[in-house]
Amino acid sequence: MSIGVGIIGTGIMGADHARIFAGQIAGAHLVAISDADEARAGAVARETGAARATSDALAVINDPAVDAVLIASPDATHADFAIACIKAGKPVLCEKPLAPTAAEGLRVIEAEVAAGRRLVQLGYMRRFDPGYVEMKGLLDSGRYGEALAFHCVHRNASAPAHFDSAAAIVSSCGHEVDVSRFVLSAELASVQVLKAKRSRHATFDDPMLVVFETDKGQLVDVELFINAQYGYDVKGELVCETGTISFGPTLNTDIRANGVHATSLAPDWRPRFAAAYRIQNQAWIRSIASGVPVGSSAWDGYVATTVTDAGVKSLKTGETVAIGYEKRPGLYS
Ligand SMILES: NC(=O)c1ccc[n+]([C@@H]2O[C@H](COP(=O)([O-])OP(=O)(O)OC[C@H]3O[C@@H](n4cnc5c(N)ncnc54)[C@H](O)[C@@H]3O)[C@@H](O)[C@H]2O)c1
Repeated sequence: MSIGVGIIGTGIMGADHARIFAGQIAGAHLVAISDADEARAGAVARETGAARATSDALAVINDPAVDAVLIASPDATHADFAIACIKAGKPVLCEKPLAPTAAEGLRVIEAEVAAGRRLVQLGYMRRFDPGYVEMKGLLDSGRYGEALAFHCVHRNASAPAHFDSAAAIVSSCGHEVDVSRFVLSAELASVQVLKAKRSRHATFDDPMLVVFETDKGQLVDVELFINAQYGYDVKGELVCETGTISFGPTLNTDIRANGVHATSLAPDWRPRFAAAYRIQNQAWIRSIASGVPVGSSAWDGYVATTVTDAGVKSLKTGETVAIGYEKRPGLYS
């Protein structure tokens, strides 16, 4: 059986997901594509062979030939579209974040709990990235003792026009929030946001240093630098009791020539995490067929929003902010 997929939002990410589904995913076919800009939806549908294009996202969700929906529209639209998918009983792969705030994210949890089953997977694709997966496997092997600290770097060449300091914490640092919970199997208990000297290329606080303490007493530090100019660069180094574990900043070619040893960097996240997106999307389709959920759940998405809410609070005060959330009985107790 092939699963009919609908996509909402065909900007940078939605178009990329459509291309992945068109060429690289088994057991699924593209059915319908929507974007507020209907011409953009039409162009992506023609390129990827999707049967229908529309400006009406709800028409995609309610299309009888659409079995599952991928949401790649702007952050503020995720919760409402995810809830509409839950109400239609359709599995959904929702791009991160679940919502811009925890209060909005909680609505999705409540809809899933009311439906009585997990239907939402969050697009925190780093859980499928071979570098992070190997790092987690090595930590879990116990060979290097306990993890003590996790140094992370998240640099982009330049920020999108709508970005500000809070968006950098919610939308960009959300990846480190989710992947550090995944790698360390720990919860983030507090956060402090420190502002560095602002780059002349930035219109908001950039770079920032975001420091978390986990419920196991580990420190996670994240250098967030969204206008780093030189390229897309993500690094992680896990400091354990008897060794460190890190993955390279790039999967690209290594060149030695003319007295220089050089490695090219991706211009943005798509080439850097190409394998992660492909593996994530394939795992999502397999999980729909098997009924066994994978990846980040709506609960993980909600927890990330509680952490980034606290980060935004710390951004304003400079103080360390404790992170808390209520458990919800039922699906996620
Ligand atoms: N997982 C990742 O690594 C990753 C990377 C970048 C962005 N994202 C997330 O993906 C989402 C999309 O980001 P992007 O960079 O592609 O943005 P984008 O601005 O390039 O694309 C968003 C698209 O959504 C469309 N849109 C707006 N409102 C809509 C609506 N109501 N219905 C249907 N379409 C609508 C816009 O016309 C646009 O084409 C965001 O939530 C972002 O945070 C995830």
